[in-house]
Amino acid sequence: MPQLVTDVRLSGSLARNPPEPMISSTRIARRVRQLGRNISSTYQDIDTPLVLVVILKGATIFAADLLRSLSIPAELEFVRASSYGSGTSRGTLKLANMVDGPLADRHLLLVEDIVDSGHTVDGVVRRIRRLKPASLRIAALLDRPARRDVDVKIDFLGFTIPDRFVIGYGLDYAGLYRELPGIYALS
Ligand code: IMP
Ligand code: MG
Repeated sequence: MPQLVTDVRLSGSLARNPPEPMISSTRIARRVRQLGRNISSTYQDIDTPLVLVVILKGATIFAADLLRSLSIPAELEFVRASSYGSGTSRGTLKLANMVDGPLADRHLLLVEDIVDSGHTVDGVVRRIRRLKPASLRIAALLDRPARRDVDVKIDFLGFTIPDRFVIGYGLDYAGLYRELPGIYALS
């Protein structure tokens, strides 16, 4: 990515003519289908629908594709967790819109876009465990282990990436670029 632009017209033109991706949309689609198969077989014997607990907003695109690659019944719930302000440095973790549906005794799959320091997923996991689910696993599209602070066990992982800030396929920079079809590194 040549420069950081927050101008909507420039963002739009990048979406139409994106540069070389770190991970192409084709690779993402193939990997998400594999994850869908793995998840479906892991949960094939559960007797209630799986609940995908999607961490807003970055994981929405991944979750939409993942949901459609499952061959088992699944429901969708959302939590809002933000650890980033408007830039690339980490702020304080804020949790909101916690699911208030009955998650007790349900099989939950937390869906996250990227695990970086681990604080976001760790914070959400701690809160959700209090709801006494039957099981709780984590699916993450991306893992960036270079900046890990908190140990996080990712059960279903798309890709491990180097220490670069990335955008696209739901991931944003200052709220933009989520629409890019692949994953792109900001220079
Ligand atoms: P963590 O709490 O440090 O693990 O950060 C994870 C959260 O920060 C994710 O939910 C993302 O929303 C955001 N994040 C971390 N790295 C990136 C990135 O490279 N691009 C866009 N968002 C990111
Ligand atoms: Mg996020």
